[in-house]
Amino acid sequence: MTMDQHLQLTVDGRLKHFLTIEGLNAALLTQILDTAESFVGLSQNQVKKVPLLRGKTIVNLFFENSTRTRTTFELAATRLSADVLNINIATSASSKGESLLDTIRNLEAMHVDMFVVRHALSGAAHFIARQAAPHISVINAGDGQHAHPTQAMLDMFTIRQHKQRFEQLKVAIVGDILHSRVARSQILALNTLGAAEVRVVAPKTLLPADVEQMGVMPMHDLDQGLRDVDVVIMLRLQKERMNSAFLPSESEFFRCFGLTEARLQHAKADAIVMHPGPINRGVEIASAVADGPRSVVLQQVSNGIAVRMAVMSMTLQPGGAA
Ligand code: CP
Repeated sequence: MTMDQHLQLTVDGRLKHFLTIEGLNAALLTQILDTAESFVGLSQNQVKKVPLLRGKTIVNLFFENSTRTRTTFELAATRLSADVLNINIATSASSKGESLLDTIRNLEAMHVDMFVVRHALSGAAHFIARQAAPHISVINAGDGQHAHPTQAMLDMFTIRQHKQRFEQLKVAIVGDILHSRVARSQILALNTLGAAEVRVVAPKTLLPADVEQMGVMPMHDLDQGLRDVDVVIMLRLQKERMNSAFLPSESEFFRCFGLTEARLQHAKADAIVMHPGPINRGVEIASAVADGPRSVVLQQVSNGIAVRMAVMSMTLQPGGAA
């Protein structure tokens, strides 16, 4: 077992924490997708709740801003009938100098069952998983530029909804790969699920030096990168993680790497366009594409609820959910 497998899996191979896609096999990723499938219809019901996590307490611990991830984790927990604590870090004692570990110890003293953690530092969720009491599960809701595993799984769920199988798929991930935790998790998930080809399309300054070792094909020309792909995943420029100038200007970036309707013609006629959000219109994607018929961006958001329900129920229920 690798260190990641040891930390996030039980001895009989079930999910205890969900920190990274790394080390998880195709069967487990497929189990997450299938479990999410069982929850997806719930949003259409008059009563949008199941009692699977009744009596459990889940803490949303977001040290970094979020719109989609925090709210869909809260909705997912509520729909599983769990109680939810949303800690507002800006108004919590963290702002008075309390350490992360002391914050965790104090919340543990309230007999909670799960931490959903977003943090600007890579490894924060792993750290909490190592320190937390044995009965507590930890879900990584995005750590630095390391991992965002539930985002990757809701993206895989959305791809499967549209394309059914992964084996024949050509996928292009376009934009700021270097700073993207989403791209890292998507690449791991796509390769584990057997995608035929994963391309990363970006200027050299926005690709990690050893990117080929991640099992992807680096490309620097958008028209070529989009040729005959089934799925286009656009990423924003993650300026909050840039410590120097990586580009001449945003307008130059859009000219070379922005997805327009004309450029999308290079992809397959039935290609879908994805984006984890937040979107920067006119920087990495034109509004006509973001709001166009091939865009599945808002489906990704809706699917986030079912996928997060799946991950929460699989980690907190001893026998799994489905
Ligand atoms: N995709 C994503 O993580 O969005 P938020 O930052 O709004 O959670």
